[in-house]
Amino acid sequence: MSESAAQEIPMSRRQLLSFVTGGAIAATTAATLYPVVLYFLPPSTAGGGEGVAAKDKEGKDISVSKLLAAVTPGERVLTLGLDVNGGDATYIVINDQKEVANFGINAVCTHLGCVVPWDNGAKQFKCPCHGSVYNADGGLERGPAPQPLALVKTTVSEDKVLIAPWTEQDFRCTDLWCNKDPYWAK
Ligand code: FES
Repeated sequence: MSESAAQEIPMSRRQLLSFVTGGAIAATTAATLYPVVLYFLPPSTAGGGEGVAAKDKEGKDISVSKLLAAVTPGERVLTLGLDVNGGDATYIVINDQKEVANFGINAVCTHLGCVVPWDNGAKQFKCPCHGSVYNADGGLERGPAPQPLALVKTTVSEDKVLIAPWTEQDFRCTDLWCNKDPYWAK
């Protein structure tokens, strides 16, 4: 990887590791408490949305207005989200109109579980562990990963990004992978 290409990746591997390690503790706690808290909340206080709020590396809810002020169109932003596919590091997808898209991408490589960095210059996810490449939607472009990155559903509610399971068909097809049934849906 060239120096300029490396600079385009928003987080170093060490930052990613500490992000995910620190976030895993917060997310485990959140995952444990979330159903309990939800049980005691009347439906009207949930803001009409569904899912868990995406969090930053300090475990605080992401503010959509602050997020959109800081990103470029088409960017993918790493957050803590929903535990699917063996991990909860999740990319929020910013579309070309600089809005939060209605899907997010689980950041855990489907090969051996590394968190996959986003290359904003190449518009691809490139796994540093064994070289797998995914396109901007998480579709599989190059192995050894056997499957695309898992999808999640994202909605914006009260300045937060809510992340929920993606149970609909997988809309991505590449030369390496095309299967409409979401493999991550239990
Ligand atoms: S863990 Fe990503 S290519 Fe091996």
